[in-house]
Amino acid sequence: MTLFIISYDQQEYECRDNESIIDAALRQGIKIKFSCGKGSCHTCIMQCLKGELPPQSQKGLNDYEIYHQYFLPCCCYPVGHMKIITIPSKITHSSSGNTSLLTDLSSTKNQQFALDAEMWDALNKGKKLKIILDDFYQQVYQDEKLLPFFKNTTKKHSSEKQYSFLRQKFSGEKCYFGDRPKNAHHWMVINNELFDYREDLLIKCLRKHKLPEYLVQRWVKLDETFRTDIVKSTPQPKIINGVVYPLDGLETIKIDEGTLCDSCDRPIEKNEMVRYHLRLGLTYCSNCMTSEKLKQII
Ligand code: HEM
Ligand code: HEM
Ligand code: FES
Repeated sequence: MTLFIISYDQQEYECRDNESIIDAALRQGIKIKFSCGKGSCHTCIMQCLKGELPPQSQKGLNDYEIYHQYFLPCCCYPVGHMKIITIPSKITHSSSGNTSLLTDLSSTKNQQFALDAEMWDALNKGKKLKIILDDFYQQVYQDEKLLPFFKNTTKKHSSEKQYSFLRQKFSGEKCYFGDRPKNAHHWMVINNELFDYREDLLIKCLRKHKLPEYLVQRWVKLDETFRTDIVKSTPQPKIINGVVYPLDGLETIKIDEGTLCDSCDRPIEKNEMVRYHLRLGLTYCSNCMTSEKLKQII
């Protein structure tokens, strides 16, 4: 019989083959908070500091929790030795804000918790992140497989958006105000192969800039948490705060970033009114937005 050592709360106990961590703890008189015992209530949620997590033990957890190696001990049948800890209180992603998420994790109240301080330090507090992303998008914009998706946006814009997104993820600072990845890519039909292709390009770029390999892997893990949101075979509607936005059709909107007209290529300034094609993400300036002209274009 294989026995795995589980370190928890400065004690060590054994977990047998085909025994969940909760069952092993109960058998050995160790107290772990739990309720349903089958992965539904998340009462038992814990964090794994060392060791491998079987996928089943993270089923139903959100991306944030998965990224931070949270798991459900009632559904965790260890595959090796593990070191685990309890989480002060359940951390959830509130859509209204973020402070509860941050303060729960920090020892001092209201102190910002650095989500991945090690990564952020390795990225020289953002300086290296900027260099990496500028290089990455330089390559993306020369890549015939990826370029079609970036037709309506600039290299600078893409790099800056990704910078603030990752800065928020790594440093914990609230600085990203874009769409969440599911909505940002809602119209893009990206298959697994293309997702892998972009990932390879990113990995090469991270290695080129000498990010330590374990951090490269951690970065990839973060991207992987968005795979199911991004990979799809048909365009999906945007859903913001539960409201479904139409997938197709045109909307007249005030633009919040400068861009180029997709018909005549003239620069469009911030705050100009444009016609925006929801599915294709195309933008038409005031000269090209008349229905007659649009009929010819679309
Ligand atoms: C300090 C760090 C973080 C803050 C302040 C933060 C904040 C937020 C906020 C405010 C939202 C709601 C956005 C909205 O839909 O209106 C959100 C959503 C989300 N965050 Fe984070 N987040 C952080 C870290 C992370 C990390 C590390 C991940 C994953 C690796 C992550 C993944 C997500 C995902 C997937 C959503 C969409 C959730 C959903 O489907 O409702 N976040 N985050
Ligand atoms: C093959 C894979 C992918 C393609 C083709 C793709 C393409 C794009 C494009 C064209 C944009 C618009 C850029 C702009 O507004 O300037 C974008 C935005 C973005 N992408 Fe991706 N992307 C991919 C994968 C990913 C992954 C894995 C992540 C996850 C971390 C990600 C995160 C984002 C974010 C945060 C934005 C900004 C959203 C916003 O503007 O509100 N993308 N992506
Ligand atoms: S006890 Fe309910 S999820 Fe583990």
